Amino acid sequence: MKNIGWVAICAPMLFACSEQPSQEITTPSTVSDSADSKIAAESAVSKVDVISEIEAGKDYHSFANPSEVRVTHLDLDLTADFETSKLSGSATLTVERSAPNFNTVVLDTRALDITSVTVNDEAVPFDMGDADPELGTPLSVELPEGADKLTIAYSTSPEASGVQWLTPAQTAGKQHPFLFTQAQAMHARSFIPLQDSPQVRVTYTATIHTPEALLAVMSASNDPTTARDGEYSFTMPQPVPSYLIALAIGDLKFKPMGERTGVYAEPSVLDAAAKEFEDTEAMLEVTEKTYGPYQWDRYDLLILPPSFPFGGMENPRLSFITPTVIAGDKSLVSLIAHELAHSWSGNTVTNATWRDLWLNEGFTTYLTYRIMEMIYGHERFKKEAVLGYQDLQNDIQALNEEDEILAIDLRGRNPDDVFSNIPYEKGALFLREIENKIGRKNFDAFLMQYFEDFAFKSITTDTFLAYLDETLLAQYPDKLSKARIDTWVFEPGIPEGAPVPVSDAFDKIDTTRSAWLAGEVEAVNIDTELWTVHEWLYFLNNMPNELSAQQLAELDAAFSLTTTQNNEIAHSWLMIAVANEYKPAYDRLYEYLVKIGRNKLVKPLYRELSKTPEGKAFAKRAFEEAKPGYHPLTIRANEGFVE
Ligand code: BES
Ligand code: ZN
Repeated sequence: MKNIGWVAICAPMLFACSEQPSQEITTPSTVSDSADSKIAAESAVSKVDVISEIEAGKDYHSFANPSEVRVTHLDLDLTADFETSKLSGSATLTVERSAPNFNTVVLDTRALDITSVTVNDEAVPFDMGDADPELGTPLSVELPEGADKLTIAYSTSPEASGVQWLTPAQTAGKQHPFLFTQAQAMHARSFIPLQDSPQVRVTYTATIHTPEALLAVMSASNDPTTARDGEYSFTMPQPVPSYLIALAIGDLKFKPMGERTGVYAEPSVLDAAAKEFEDTEAMLEVTEKTYGPYQWDRYDLLILPPSFPFGGMENPRLSFITPTVIAGDKSLVSLIAHELAHSWSGNTVTNATWRDLWLNEGFTTYLTYRIMEMIYGHERFKKEAVLGYQDLQNDIQALNEEDEILAIDLRGRNPDDVFSNIPYEKGALFLREIENKIGRKNFDAFLMQYFEDFAFKSITTDTFLAYLDETLLAQYPDKLSKARIDTWVFEPGIPEGAPVPVSDAFDKIDTTRSAWLAGEVEAVNIDTELWTVHEWLYFLNNMPNELSAQQLAELDAAFSLTTTQNNEIAHSWLMIAVANEYKPAYDRLYEYLVKIGRNKLVKPLYRELSKTPEGKAFAKRAFEEAKPGYHPLTIRANEGFVE
């Protein structure tokens, strides 16, 4: 087993989850974090470190020293200057020392211009360490004895990795600029100096100054009726990890969808979004019923411009959502179920390090399927599960074995570069297997207790495994085994005997596709009237690699695939078009790449295009035109394909 050393060092541990102070992770740390920080800086290049044992609970992606001095609260005061693309102002941090003689607080920063650090209005010494290309620059501040608050005056760089500044032309309304932040995984440090680690939770307040015509919203209390006067105040009373701090500014309007749910969007997309996502309130209710109370007060959505690099981001109280899922028929709303589910798995119970991301994404993907089943029924659930399983299989074919492990080794790597379906679909499948073995009712009860026991804590994989040991493994020794669980968590691939989702509706699609491929039926004569987006995706995603120009033209003529308004169907069709160099789709392809910045949709297209010199030249043209509108993450993820 690959991680034998790791298991040996972190296995038996006591946890008294309800007694843990909420600011601490539930894994003992043996080495001081400031010493670790230096190693973390070197680890980006150090091979020696990579072959040594992973220290569970150690954040290899932060310089911060929370085990000595921990930031517990943040007061932010920032002005957004759309002329210079800078946020400037101050962050006041409240800290707690674990011993009175710890007077150095180490923070994470990236490309911040720090103008002063003060305590009680007096300047205090601070030191910027060496910049690491991936991790940024540590900022160490010497605190006067007993001081528990420090204020950092700073401004961000126009290239801040976690902030995107959009011109009016890049918005739906074309009149006003727009700004949004995206902090996960380690980009909060590019717009706030803080301890940028998911195991450090802070409460926060913020005052944001904007041009008067614009509205600011945050992952915090938002008042839909606030006056638009260019000054907005927020409070987040629940402690959140830094990657969940988020801000957006734009010409935003609000529309309620239910008692606790509503949408913020630019005026021209507001109604369509509120209609598309009108089931959000019902999703919230069924999730509460199954997994316990929603801990965050309101749940609103913010619809971003199309350059948003993700489908969605679970910023607490206010999920950030790509507009590419507004399909007109609710066919892509599993994204909303997903971001909502993070309110339990991710925001309430949080991964302690990025290695443990599967605790966020795997649990959330499992919950997403369950929510979709409760709202839209078993048939739709089965189809989505098959599509998710196929995505997982495709990734497993393409990935190196070490990247197929749930508890992945991310030392020396940037979590952004390791994004795959493994933590999502493999994580969900693992939980599905446990559910199948012990029964749904029992597993639901377990999850509800888990969310309660670890509420507002950041936990490691080993903490979860120890919890499983004490709960389900003890309760169901004849149904579950530790060896099987370790296989799921520490071995590559999908374990033999894992549940395989099936859908009868899709079996029919297989028959239809085969008949068409064999020339037994013409595309125009296929009865697609009752097909949902899922049938279309399954039909297209499982085409053979090679299709003739004539076959492609026949499909396109029968189903107008090149002009489909559904962005997921368009994606599947364009993948086929690129693989077969079907030129009639290339204008749409170009337009698609330039307009959409959602990485999941554009990256596979760039990758496929880059396989031929001609495709690469086309990709380069599209990329160059799109680049000014792409988010830094989308640029980073794709520039390699067009070099
Ligand atoms: N939290 C993630 C997005 C994320 C993950 C950002 C890791 C940075 C690092 C979000 O909840 C997510 O999973 N989004 C998916 C949704 C999909 C699986 C339904 C996306 O954007 O595609
Ligand atoms: Zn997610």
